[in-house]
Amino acid sequence: MNAPLTHAKPAPLAPFVDALPLPSRLIALEHDGRLTVSIRAGTHRFHRDLPVSSVWGFEGMVPGPTIEAERGRPVTVEWLNELKGPFPVLDTVAPEPADADGVPVQCLPGLSGGEPNRHAAGLTGHTVVHLHGGLTPASYDGWAENLFAPGQPAVFDYPMDQRAALLWYHDHVMGITKLDVYAGLAGLWIVRDERERELELPEGPPFEVPLLIQDRNFDLDEHGRLTGQLVHKTDPEVMEAFPPFTVVNGKVWPVLEVRPATYRFRVLNGSNARTYRLVVLHEVAPEHERITQIGTDHGLLRAPVAVPADGLVLASAERADVLVDFSDLPPGSELTVLNTARAPFDGSPFPVSDAENAADPEGLLPYPQVLRFRVAGEPANSVSIPRKLATDYEAPPAEALAGARRRAIALVEREMGDEPNMLTMRELGPAGDGPLVTVSDGDETTRYRVVAAHFEDATTFFPMLGEYEVWQLINLTGDTHPIHLHLDPFQILSRQPIRYEIPEGGIGGRELAATVTLAREPDDELDHAIDDNERGLKDTIRVNPNEIVEIAVRFNSYSGRYMYHCHILEHEDRDMMRPFVTMAPELMPFMA
Ligand code: C2O
Ligand code: CU
Ligand code: CU
Repeated sequence: MNAPLTHAKPAPLAPFVDALPLPSRLIALEHDGRLTVSIRAGTHRFHRDLPVSSVWGFEGMVPGPTIEAERGRPVTVEWLNELKGPFPVLDTVAPEPADADGVPVQCLPGLSGGEPNRHAAGLTGHTVVHLHGGLTPASYDGWAENLFAPGQPAVFDYPMDQRAALLWYHDHVMGITKLDVYAGLAGLWIVRDERERELELPEGPPFEVPLLIQDRNFDLDEHGRLTGQLVHKTDPEVMEAFPPFTVVNGKVWPVLEVRPATYRFRVLNGSNARTYRLVVLHEVAPEHERITQIGTDHGLLRAPVAVPADGLVLASAERADVLVDFSDLPPGSELTVLNTARAPFDGSPFPVSDAENAADPEGLLPYPQVLRFRVAGEPANSVSIPRKLATDYEAPPAEALAGARRRAIALVEREMGDEPNMLTMRELGPAGDGPLVTVSDGDETTRYRVVAAHFEDATTFFPMLGEYEVWQLINLTGDTHPIHLHLDPFQILSRQPIRYEIPEGGIGGRELAATVTLAREPDDELDHAIDDNERGLKDTIRVNPNEIVEIAVRFNSYSGRYMYHCHILEHEDRDMMRPFVTMAPELMPFMA
């Protein structure tokens, strides 16, 4: 019954032997909305045949408890930082991109000759918690520099004045989010509301199942056997970690026994850098007609949508709420979820018909396995899928957008000589002296210059509460970047192909010279289309190579200092993050 994975190398761990764990639930109402969560070292077994691993986790667990809250019922969390060194992850850069046999080192366990980073080994547990997707007052949003030292508690108020959605909470420390999240500091947070209950969607076990997908790697002992020691490994050519083992709810390639019924899966990509394109195979045939997507980052879509033809793409931090119908399947049937996305992801398509051959070590995807479903037991009621889901939002009105303030942000990759390249975001403002960035659409050319290049540079974005703005994300790199805004969700307006030229030396420490034209490169393979499942309320949007994405942004909830960034954690930690300050309109006349 196993789907043949013909190009796959034999995996050093047996797939589909561990049951999918369900994270423990922390239901806020049962605690009067007052929760205490300790952040501490713990141990965790990632696979039946692996020794236990040391981790840092919320309540010492991987993933942390799933916090469940009700719309309109505030939650206060006392985050107790009880972390202690030693830091449980070995961080290393392998000296070569491939081993003697030509296998990319990122596909292999162990350090591949890399020296353990002693600065990482010296971390003792500063943390700060961000509720991703939360409409959270600025002082509780988890600003990357406002750390809780070990022993220092922090009491954060979450108003929960927001629609039902799958959120997640994770560490957000400046420069080391990639390490802290990798060590285990992440958990799910579900907001529930009346609209979802009216629609009679499955809520709670057994038919609502969260799936937190991550990738991890481990060390080897002197006999070449896997240890449980977590390894965060990069190589001289790829600055993001793309570990070989896919972990769902804390287990490598687990299996979930399902009844012949409809299940609701709340899916989050919580990986540092990897993008997944998930396909579901029955034997070897894709069966996407079983899947209906009903929600995205900030909750329900207006109407259910089919999964995109080639599979469900989720970059780091993106979420999907999907119903999967197993009701016609006889006991013993098995469905396998595979990933067909190469890494680093650049938006390239991969036909679903070829999914069983997705294994691609060159593409840092040695094992496409994600998860298996095995049907067992008695049929249960199948859910009827409502035709109409959300009724509480519309596409932004054209009038509101016509006069909206526009902002432009360029994503660029800067060569650093002997260090790995640095990914940076450049905020663009009116042209002045110095190098120019021009964006032309054929009729009109807009001329910009860089006004901010690093996280510490002065803030240039001061959006006014209640007003629409259009943010233009211009990708001048070869990879897809999932750009995330804190606070209110946004909607995508357009995704357009571009051609660009960057003159020799055009990307400096803070300067940028580039000529961008809205037109397709002749050899560009991407369709630059907006998927149906992206037409909801999003907080993270993929910006592919050779592409400009425009989003309609409107902050309604709180004024204060927030951040936006690429959600590839290795990018966020190395300069793809910038502040913005939301402003009450009455204060604008007083701003210099
Ligand atoms: Cu999930 Cu600022 O991040
Ligand atoms: Cu966030
Ligand atoms: Cu990025």
